[in-house]
Amino acid sequence: MIALAYATDLATGQSREFALRSCVLAMRLADTAGLDVEQRRNVYHQALLRYIGCNADTHLLAAAFGDEIALRQDVARIDLGSHSELGEVFVRAFRRVFADLPPDQLAMAVQQGLTDALQVTVPILAGHCEVAQRIGMRIGLSEEMRENLGQLYERWDGHGLPRGLKGAEGRFAVRMVTLAQDAITLEEAHGFEAMTAIITKRRGGAYEPELADLFLANAQRLLKGLDQPVGRETILAIEPAPHAVLDEAACEEAYLAIADMVNMRMPFTFGHSRAVAQLADAAGRHVGLPASEVRDLRWAAYTHDIGELAVPVSTWMQPRELNIRETDAARLHPYHGERALASLGGDGSPVAQLVMRHHERLDGSGYHRCVRAPDLSPAARILAAAEAFQTAREKRPYRPALSDAAAAIKLRNEVREGSWTPRRWRLS
Ligand SMILES: [Fe+2]
Ligand SMILES: [Fe+2]
Repeated sequence: MIALAYATDLATGQSREFALRSCVLAMRLADTAGLDVEQRRNVYHQALLRYIGCNADTHLLAAAFGDEIALRQDVARIDLGSHSELGEVFVRAFRRVFADLPPDQLAMAVQQGLTDALQVTVPILAGHCEVAQRIGMRIGLSEEMRENLGQLYERWDGHGLPRGLKGAEGRFAVRMVTLAQDAITLEEAHGFEAMTAIITKRRGGAYEPELADLFLANAQRLLKGLDQPVGRETILAIEPAPHAVLDEAACEEAYLAIADMVNMRMPFTFGHSRAVAQLADAAGRHVGLPASEVRDLRWAAYTHDIGELAVPVSTWMQPRELNIRETDAARLHPYHGERALASLGGDGSPVAQLVMRHHERLDGSGYHRCVRAPDLSPAARILAAAEAFQTAREKRPYRPALSDAAAAIKLRNEVREGSWTPRRWRLS
């Protein structure tokens, strides 16, 4: 769950450990409000997992608004019930998208964009709730928790999404987490005083009045230390008992859910991580890796591109090769992946170690650390090769898919160049 929370922070452009910090704040608020253990459990999961459905149909969002991560950063700070604030955010997005147009055409394009904006966004945002609920089911969340995830953008005044639930029709955990997450976002953007002023202004609109009052009366204490990163241990320690524990089969399903969540952003990556996992699993068995290493290899394959969420879909969808700035951002995705998976237990996690190396090559020509053969275990070499082979077989906006045969020739050429281990290699 911490890895998923980290992933949603990347995809929504929040600062590091936003979901974790909001979880601590929401749990402090839950304690202050005297919630029982069931309600506290709902608050805990809602804070960590609120945005797990938000990668669905991201390409549609990017097609309309360009850099969707920048859009999400803007949206997180405004009062979504205010047409003027929302209009300003949309105008800013369209100005970025149409920056190259001459002024008269720019004005017309922005106007047209505004006319269509709500028609484009409302179904996408409603879809995020459904997808979040589906992912929630796959990772074993209770029906109540899934219901919470389905109320992603509901508001106290009934002007929210997806159903416009009013007042106590909405779930309490949702109201509490929405307030806690906005408080963190707003304090970071505007400082403590401005944050409390905005929460006061939105009292009775976005937020339940009594809840806003409780927060405002205790804000200094509740937010103490939350401008600093929050560690895994802290999050595990505040989980209401009994703690959720997954067996190996449930872990497999959770990793698969992460794979699908990462790949659902764009049509051309659908199924990518599953396919890489299948290839890597078969190759790992073929060369005789122990069963536990084959399992780690498969789990690393499911999660290898989790760090891609830090790069806007609008970048990946360019119908050309990436420019220098975009390439640099894209090449950092194994770093973000490593960070996301560090939540599995620090640098020692074999899955994180593999994810971190999934674009490395034997001759040091890979990225992001550019390590060489001695630093690449058999499993790391297999994952990188499976990833490269599968990617070559998939279409990208700037090139067609290669056939299996052509992808194999490409890899064999790279073996000769020193990127890969020769094909007759076996462990035993
Ligand atoms: Fe990949
Ligand atoms: Fe990758």
